[in-house]
Amino acid sequence: MICRLLWAFMVGLVCSPVFAAGVNDLQRGRIAFLRCAACHALQVDEPGKVGPNLRGTLGRGAAQVPGFAYSEALRKAGLTWDDATLKRWIQDPASVVPGTAMTYVNTLSETEVQALLVFLKSQTAVR
Ligand code: HEC
Repeated sequence: MICRLLWAFMVGLVCSPVFAAGVNDLQRGRIAFLRCAACHALQVDEPGKVGPNLRGTLGRGAAQVPGFAYSEALRKAGLTWDDATLKRWIQDPASVVPGTAMTYVNTLSETEVQALLVFLKSQTAVR
């Protein structure tokens, strides 16, 4: 009996961090954002990189960051970054806005993109 309890305890110890990371969308999204971080800042007042700072992007109209040199294609697209649009954008930017300057080929899975949206939203909320 004690042996069995001990065994369960050991298995729990080994497995719990793996499961915790597996179910946490926020963490998964934070990791997924590393694909974007080369070109996008996310902190308040952090200067843009190759792409604009994405803080507060969700729910907002496209091409709104002051001082960022957007492509004409994105400026004229008249998009609002709702969940569905942003999801399509991450999966294939050029199919949403032909001629966009965001040259990104997606390798994130559906689940990772979903988690990325959760993460981006959480960042907007604490602004
Ligand atoms: C190789 C650099 C690069 C990578 C990687 C990249 N982006 Fe971009 N992104 C850009 C550029 C450049 C623009 C501006 C596009 C334009 O003006 O047409 C942009 C624009 C955007 C916009 C529109 C912002 C606005 O103010 O309207 C969003 C949203 C966005 N990117 C999200 C992402 C996400 C999410 C990822 C990661 C999955 C990502 N990007 C990866 C370069 C990149």
